[in-house]
Amino acid sequence: MPRQQRCLSVASAQLAGPVVAPGAGVDEAVAGFVTGKRKATEVAHAVWRSIVQKGDTVVDATCGNGNDTFALLKMVADESGRGRVYGMDIQDTAIDSTSSFLKMAVDSREMELVKLFPICHSRMEEIVPKDSPVRLVAFNLGYLPGGDKTIVTVPKTTELALQAASRIVSSGGLISVLVYIGHLGGRAQLSFVESFAPSMSFDTWMSCKFEMIHRPVAPLPVLIHAQEVITVFGVCKGEIAQHKRQAMGSQSKK
Ligand SMILES: C[S@@+](CC[C@H](N)C(=O)[O-])C[C@H]1O[C@@H](n2cnc3c(N)ncnc32)[C@H](O)[C@@H]1O
Repeated sequence: MPRQQRCLSVASAQLAGPVVAPGAGVDEAVAGFVTGKRKATEVAHAVWRSIVQKGDTVVDATCGNGNDTFALLKMVADESGRGRVYGMDIQDTAIDSTSSFLKMAVDSREMELVKLFPICHSRMEEIVPKDSPVRLVAFNLGYLPGGDKTIVTVPKTTELALQAASRIVSSGGLISVLVYIGHLGGRAQLSFVESFAPSMSFDTWMSCKFEMIHRPVAPLPVLIHAQEVITVFGVCKGEIAQHKRQAMGSQSKK
């Protein structure tokens, strides 16, 4: 998404309330991960909870058995019925599994907020409405647990999907990638994600990964945050700084 479109005015940010909700659970999840008591998924979910708000639109790019879809639904669902979870998976069995799980775990009002599609995640822009700012796109790379282990996410489509995610995630939002490396092709996925993140603009994105050195095949959460670009009187702060630098440069030449 173009930088200008992701600009957020100071006034509208204040009216809308805090963009980032209180970070409930992140400290505990990270401390637990460091001491080997909490899983990578718990770290990812805690970070999601600190960013996602009730009523948000979020995307689960790899539904699998629906655990992440369920977690996301609980984060966005409220009485207003505004929240939406757009979920996708290339396998019909995964979509069925997610759908069955949700039907058991949530009520019909919450179920209405989830839209599931049996498609490749590289096509996510086709299903998320253009006028819905997306707070989070979550990827859980690898194979369907309990399913066909030969059907895995691959770097080529992951790249297209990450590019699509970077176009739809709004300012202050997050792309979350949980990378499993214990299966064939897992390391290649990690190498790809590690090279993709720093290729994104340093002005607008911030990324990090959590890696267990003592557990070399443990899954790694890679988190890519869309930095908030603050505008003052309609001009991005970064641009103001650039104008100042240019002005100072032209003065010193005189
Ligand atoms: C590790 S599982 C996801 C687990 C899931 N998030 C959960 O909570 O149960 C990875 C999933 O990615 C799916 N997948 C593989 N390639 C995909 C693609 N190109 N687009 C969408 N889903 C894909 C697989 O079918 C598999 O179900």
